[in-house]
Amino acid sequence: MTDANPTPTETPATTDDATPRALVRPVADSAAEATGAAVRRGPFRAGERVQLTDPKGKLHTVVLKEGGQFHTHRGYFRHDDVIGAPEGSVVVTTSGVEYLALRPLLSDYTLSMPRGAAVVYPKDAGQIVAMADIFPGARVIEAGVGSGALTLSLLRAVGDSGSVHSIERREDFAQIARGNVEQFFGGPHPAWSLTVGDLAPTLPLVAGPGEVDRVVLDMLAPWENIDEVHTALTPGGVLVCYVATTTQLSRLAEDLRSHGGFGEPEAFETMIRGWHLEGLAVRPNHRMVGHTGFLLTVRRMADGVEAPERKRRPSKGYTPATTDDWSPEDVGERPVSDKKIRRVRRDVGRGPDAED
Ligand SMILES: C[S@@+](CC[C@H](N)C(=O)[O-])C[C@H]1O[C@@H](n2cnc3c(N)ncnc32)[C@H](O)[C@@H]1O
Repeated sequence: MTDANPTPTETPATTDDATPRALVRPVADSAAEATGAAVRRGPFRAGERVQLTDPKGKLHTVVLKEGGQFHTHRGYFRHDDVIGAPEGSVVVTTSGVEYLALRPLLSDYTLSMPRGAAVVYPKDAGQIVAMADIFPGARVIEAGVGSGALTLSLLRAVGDSGSVHSIERREDFAQIARGNVEQFFGGPHPAWSLTVGDLAPTLPLVAGPGEVDRVVLDMLAPWENIDEVHTALTPGGVLVCYVATTTQLSRLAEDLRSHGGFGEPEAFETMIRGWHLEGLAVRPNHRMVGHTGFLLTVRRMADGVEAPERKRRPSKGYTPATTDDWSPEDVGERPVSDKKIRRVRRDVGRGPDAED
């Protein structure tokens, strides 16, 4: 059987004169360095954020400042001891406590950066990028921007040649997001635009009909924007929504179906269980993030085309979740016949004639 994915060391590429070609291009060879790449390499510089891990594994984040000091209850060290050192260095406080210094990864950064609104966790951001198929060069609309955590993943995925246009109704949150994005990339990102406003009236002003490849919504009531999103999306384009509760999920799915311009929505959630790794004690961690939110993805249909009928019909008695008077069938439970109930009662010795 041939190996479809040979590792580089097994099959080094060669030039015509059989001289081995470098498998990893030196940075100087790349035509144009991607935004943010430079600040993720090389020795630590003043002004950048550094993640320090103490002997108990606790994380501390500091912004390096010439002449600055990092104080702990067991001594301190000078920022100048870190500035100029390579990533992965160990700094020692005046009391001999060691701290490992590394640049925060994107996932660390989003959890430690200043926040106004709640952020999308890395586990969900990764799923959004994968399941919404955010590709290099894609034209993406995002709303709301909140603290900008998800924006970072979207910008990473579209790259310098793509476009992420974020729309946020709150000016103060937009400012926080801008600060977080520029701190992470070391300055403005060429693919990013940010508009303060409500999505529904703003979207037609920033994107013409069919100009958008992907729309990503993280907001309380995404169903309020379905018409505008449909207009902006290109046929086949993906809408992904992140909602915190099942009630939002249900409303959103039903409103998308009623709209008629989208295919069948799909919903899922992501749970990541970390593992404890110590000698023979290798087991799941006792604690995990139990719930963040649900993701719903749906594709835009071509104009004038109706989504094919679902193969699996909704259960009998199903009605959209707009009534206060819910029945078991409304929530997808199979109706149970009176006959079956009588049989089960007999089986458990509690038939209608049973004596108490
Ligand atoms: C939970 S936060 C988004 C967090 C963000 N995804 C992140 O990872 O940092 C939700 C944001 O949506 C904004 N928002 C809610 N409805 C909106 C609308 N119709 N148009 C624009 N922004 C909206 C809120 O102001 C809030 O900042």
